[in-house]
Amino acid sequence: MKIIMLGAPGAGKGTQAKMIAEKYGIPHVSTGDIFRANIKNGTALGIEAKKYMDQGLLVPDELTVKILLDRVAQPDCADGYVLDGFPRTIPQAQVLDEALEELGDAIDYAINVEVPDENIVKRMSGRRACVSCGATYHVEHIPPREEGICDKCGKELILRDDDKPETVQNRLQVYHEQTQPLIDFYGAKGVLKTVDGTVDSKEVFAAIEAILG
Ligand code: AP5
Ligand code: MG
Repeated sequence: MKIIMLGAPGAGKGTQAKMIAEKYGIPHVSTGDIFRANIKNGTALGIEAKKYMDQGLLVPDELTVKILLDRVAQPDCADGYVLDGFPRTIPQAQVLDEALEELGDAIDYAINVEVPDENIVKRMSGRRACVSCGATYHVEHIPPREEGICDKCGKELILRDDDKPETVQNRLQVYHEQTQPLIDFYGAKGVLKTVDGTVDSKEVFAAIEAILG
């Protein structure tokens, strides 16, 4: 099963993608997490990506596409995956499509998690992310068992650099200009499914389970 998560920054793509990965036994592939791991390790890719991420801009397609295609070519992705944060532009979607077509394959579902802009900024300021495994929490809605510590791996939780309100505004603008057109792109392919992302994360997941079966 090959799934794409669509939705604004902070819509809950990562939260839902992790639940899908766990239930359906497929890898969760997040380009944002890959970039953040590279930033943490000080790689050349991380240094380059950080310039864009800190401003709320997209990392150029040339860098992003190669990383994603390499990742999904790994053996653990053979039976499917859930993509979170990719594609984010029409050219990215086209490259993915062509790569899948060459394998006689295609995306099964593009799940659009719908949350209005008004809710987003508030959510982001409460988000805490694990520096090590990428798990996400929310200080009010989805708190960790122990403040500042990841439930899953015991490492430190941080506020992401790009979750400052002014950067979130930029990310929203970039989303509307460059990523939202993907909703029509996947709609035209007949694989688009939309869920309400404003309800509790367990309810959002129940709606997704009803789609995936
Ligand atoms: P990325 O890491 O993908 O960030 P994003 O799309 O901005 O999305 P977020 O991770 O911020 O939000 P999310 O939808 O995953 O929400 P979450 O589940 O955490 O990308 C970061 C940057 O990397 C980009 O800006 C770009 O620069 C670069 N990049 C990445 N991919 C790229 C690509 N393909 N091309 C170019 N550049 C790329 O939830 C948010 C918060 O809400 C959390 O605190 C969570 O606990 C809480 N929450 C979740 N669900 C609910 C709920 N139902 N109710 C209440 N709270 C909830
Ligand atoms: Mg995310």
